[in-house]
Amino acid sequence: MKMPKCWKTGGNWQKTTGLYSSILHIPKGFVVAAAVGTVIFGILVVIFFPSWVKLIIHHEIVLRNGSQAFGWWAKPPVEPTIKVYIYNVTNADEFLNNGSKPIVEELGPYVYIETWEKKNLRFHDNGTVTFNQEKIYIFDESQSAGSEDDVVVVPNIPMLSATSQSKHAARFLRLAMASIMDILKIKPFVEVTVGQLLWGYEDPLLKLAKDVVPKEQKLPYEEFGLLYNKNGTSKDNVTVFTGANDITQYGLIDKFNGISHLSHYKTDKCNSLKGSDGSIFPPDITKNTTLYVYDKDLCRKLPLVYVEDIVGSDNVPGYRFSPPKNVFAGVDENPENDCFCPHGPPCTPAGFFNVSLCQYDSPVLLSFPHFYLADDKYRTAVEGISPPDPEKHMFFLDVQPLMGAPLRAKARIQLNLAVSQVVDIKQVATFPDIIFPIMWFEEGLNGLPKQMTNLMGLATTVPPVAHVALSVGVIVVGLLLLLVAVWRLVRGAHRLSSLQLAPGHVGSQTKKEKDVPMNNVNKN
Ligand SMILES: *[C@@H]1O[C@H](CO)[C@@H](O)[C@H](O)[C@H]1NC(C)=O
Ligand SMILES: *[C@@H]1O[C@H](CO)[C@@H](O)[C@H](O)[C@H]1NC(C)=O
Ligand SMILES: *[C@@H]1O[C@H](CO)[C@@H](O)[C@H](O)[C@H]1NC(C)=O
Ligand SMILES: *[C@@H]1O[C@H](CO)[C@@H](O)[C@H](O)[C@H]1NC(C)=O
Ligand SMILES: *[C@@H]1O[C@H](CO)[C@@H](O)[C@H](O)[C@H]1NC(C)=O
Ligand SMILES: *[C@@H]1O[C@H](CO)[C@@H](O)[C@H](O)[C@H]1NC(C)=O
Ligand SMILES: *[C@@H]1O[C@H](CO)[C@@H](O)[C@H](O)[C@H]1NC(C)=O
Ligand SMILES: *[C@@H]1O[C@H](CO)[C@@H](O)[C@H](O)[C@H]1NC(C)=O
Repeated sequence: MKMPKCWKTGGNWQKTTGLYSSILHIPKGFVVAAAVGTVIFGILVVIFFPSWVKLIIHHEIVLRNGSQAFGWWAKPPVEPTIKVYIYNVTNADEFLNNGSKPIVEELGPYVYIETWEKKNLRFHDNGTVTFNQEKIYIFDESQSAGSEDDVVVVPNIPMLSATSQSKHAARFLRLAMASIMDILKIKPFVEVTVGQLLWGYEDPLLKLAKDVVPKEQKLPYEEFGLLYNKNGTSKDNVTVFTGANDITQYGLIDKFNGISHLSHYKTDKCNSLKGSDGSIFPPDITKNTTLYVYDKDLCRKLPLVYVEDIVGSDNVPGYRFSPPKNVFAGVDENPENDCFCPHGPPCTPAGFFNVSLCQYDSPVLLSFPHFYLADDKYRTAVEGISPPDPEKHMFFLDVQPLMGAPLRAKARIQLNLAVSQVVDIKQVATFPDIIFPIMWFEEGLNGLPKQMTNLMGLATTVPPVAHVALSVGVIVVGLLLLLVAVWRLVRGAHRLSSLQLAPGHVGSQTKKEKDVPMNNVNKN
């Protein structure tokens, strides 16, 4: 019964002599079996190591109370910014009275630094977690090209929404509307500060609506602002998959305020909310993967497809994803968009997405900034907007494909108002049918903190190296064992007893103290 002790004392990398001698004590059959086993293990390592790494990564990224991934997800140690650009109308009077083309001046960026945190986290047994997203916006004067007190002239969105909607109403209603607007001195353009336009100003029409409109159709606010009520914790309950049960659903929205499907569009596919909120994506992203991002204000989930390989901050490699060029294309070019046109034809023009169903029926159309991917006639209908430049105006997201983590992002969207001419309302009688650009913004993530990129760097660079090293190492050990077995077979054939000779012989070539355990073994 020498063998087990030999393994215990000598089975160690440094104690090679012990190992060596112990091999000599092991029956031949065992050495052959161990050698073959090791080689097979080596081959398994070659084949399956990448999937083991994936399993480990999957295990690590699952949202579990207390894990690192969970902490980063709930309170990202990043500094996202939103840059707002506003189209200031400089010839409002000539546009209304003289029929001239509107002239706009792009102002901005007005930059806000955001802090994100997921609040009121509630885990459920079925592998989902519910939260309320908090976003705090702090104005950053140093990065901004103006102040929040800059005065701008922009279309009066509540008014033009009301008048455009009344197009198909009874004529007396429109006339009534005209007199009310007369009394309240409501004009088609408003002069407000940037701060007011974004965060809210009291609007007489909304105030009135709040008082007179029946409760069910009531607008929830009496103030109007493009980012009104967005500074703080959202009331929306978002439920996402943690990945504990099915990693392919990791980070995807299960329910938004308790519902799993919108009801605006024609098909389940278009009504589906099953996209990421942008913070994490299902791992193992390939160049063929389509990522989906759902945002309430986008009114749908937005597909993103592979564009190119990129190198993110701290040299972490990743893939760039962007909406496909035909994402907002007309039905003739992209038949899949038919489902987004529930009341058409006519449908929204190519290059725009109609979000009126999510904006209390206001005629709001989204596009990419500077009408990127839309017909140029919309851009030139207004003076003062430079041609779109994909560098500056494309919507993109860089992800780390193994982990599904965003590395960098620029979510760029332009807000436009589709005004319809309504001649019965004298205030807007001269406001022609036009898609009027209001503003665009870029919500961006410029990079990740070192602590995150370091880990990602490790996760991307170590496994391939470890794979090769481990595969080679295990196979070499296996082959050495085989060699030993063969050598012993040969020695056995010559009937030479190597048992006494070997320990001293080998021991003389290494440090003496290392032989101590082995010598003890031999004495036993
Ligand atoms: C916006 O345009 C108006 C003229 O319509 C002008 O008075 C105002 O100064 C402009 N705002 C800025 C910040 O340039
Ligand atoms: C409006 O147009 C008329 C003639 O078309 C021109 O004389 C007048 O100067 C214009 N007014 C403004 C404010 O541009
Ligand atoms: C996470 O665990 C801590 C301590 O066990 C607990 O106080 C906290 O409520 C848990 N959080 C969630 C979201 O379950
Ligand atoms: C998981 O449980 C939550 C809470 O009970 C529920 O709202 C959600 O619909 C469930 N999701 C799935 C996929 O079963
Ligand atoms: C957002 O709210 C925080 C406090 O919660 C406040 O300090 C900050 O000024 C607000 N930002 C804006 C743009 O109003
Ligand atoms: C979110 O959930 C809370 C409690 O679970 C509930 O009181 C609230 O009404 C929900 N909010 C929305 C917008 O559904
Ligand atoms: C990606 O799609 C192309 C064409 O559809 C196909 O040839 C290729 O094998 C796919 N690659 C992966 C990794 O699925
Ligand atoms: C946007 O959608 C609404 C509701 O479906 C519709 O009434 C309106 O005509 C659409 N607007 C445009 C410009 O397509």
